[in-house]
Amino acid sequence: MKDFPQHVKGTIDFFSSRVSLFQEITEVARKILKFFGYEEIILPILEESRVFLKVGEFTDIIEKQMFKIEGRDIVLRPEGTAQVVRFFVENKLWKEKEFHKFFYIGPMFRGEKPQRGRLRQFHHIGAEALGSNFPFLDAEIIKIASDILKELGIKDVKLKINSLGCQQDKEILRKRLKEKLKDKKEKLCSICQKRLDKNPLRILDCKEKRCQEIVKEINIGDFLCNSCQKHFEKVLHYLDKLNISYIYSPTLVRGLDYYTHTVFEITSSHLGSQDACGAGGRYNSLVKSMGGPDIPGIGFALGIERVILLLKEKKKVSHSKVFVAYTPGYFDKAVEILNFLREKGIPSQINYLEKSLKAQLRFSHKIGADFVVIVGEEEVKNNFLTLKNMKKSLQERVSREELLSKIC
Ligand code: HAM
Repeated sequence: MKDFPQHVKGTIDFFSSRVSLFQEITEVARKILKFFGYEEIILPILEESRVFLKVGEFTDIIEKQMFKIEGRDIVLRPEGTAQVVRFFVENKLWKEKEFHKFFYIGPMFRGEKPQRGRLRQFHHIGAEALGSNFPFLDAEIIKIASDILKELGIKDVKLKINSLGCQQDKEILRKRLKEKLKDKKEKLCSICQKRLDKNPLRILDCKEKRCQEIVKEINIGDFLCNSCQKHFEKVLHYLDKLNISYIYSPTLVRGLDYYTHTVFEITSSHLGSQDACGAGGRYNSLVKSMGGPDIPGIGFALGIERVILLLKEKKKVSHSKVFVAYTPGYFDKAVEILNFLREKGIPSQINYLEKSLKAQLRFSHKIGADFVVIVGEEEVKNNFLTLKNMKKSLQERVSREELLSKIC
């Protein structure tokens, strides 16, 4: 097989249902972005490498992951924000009007080590608003991303949010981190040891336990100046007004160095280790650092391939309806299983009428359950669950870990 050409590792051939899902996602996104007043732009896939230096020289995307055209200072774009800012500054668009809203849909390229949800060519739906530092805009941009996911039927996601403060706040925090951690360098993971010199903020959101332990007392919130603190409070206030729930995540930093003030990620437990299906934030210094005036910006990007994974997950689970049955005395254990299934997005029911197991099984037929999970004395004693497949009239013993793969 190896003698014949194959797709490049970390790329995906889109065909059949994947094409339909791609179209469904982009149609919904276009409709919502236009509704909010965003104008579509189609920018080149090729850019000068220096466009992305402002993304942060010491971020992985720039240091190791850019696909460079051999012999030229040209790369395949790794992301859209710096590119939109390049376009904005090159065309001096602030002279036309003081506020601009753009969106783009297209492929991005990063030479990352491929794994589930982490590709070398993937697609962004991105939005960028340039010209305002108004905190309502931060909340609105998050609303647009979450409306797109909601309209697609993806509900089981979490919004994590933080503020990094302005460039000055970030600089103070950087210095403080260097001072605080210099004696503990040896105890950090090897990646964070390098980050300590170049990009210490990233240590704060390292996934390694030992690094988390070392930085656990450092709170970015303590480093925000008054005005950045107020800005962030207003953003949270407007999120409340827009009925968007959030998780304040004081260690959220994000991999791109241009961010200031608000940063956020939208994550799902169905995505595994690469759990963000979208992310974004403010970049109030980027326009200036690219040669334009002091104009603030904010935006987000959704990763289409990860949204596709979530849609597939949703379709999988929405097929099975589960009824959790129990023998007298085992209601509490059954509730544990019921809650576990519901948290995984599987519609599950239980008996509220203290009926016998036989009566519960009759009821499960009436409500058209696809599966019944039985919890009783034997199951609890021997640490298994009885799973009845009602369509196939099959019954088997499964562990809690196996349950999901049998049902989905
Ligand atoms: P990002 O977090 O690098 O942000 O990418 C946004 C989303 O793209 C991620 O949440 C993820 O869903 C998806 N994504 C990123 N890398 C990969 C990959 N290797 N394979 C598959 N999907 C991936 C940005 O790029 C910023 N430009 C977002 C932004 C816009 N900030 C402000 N405006």
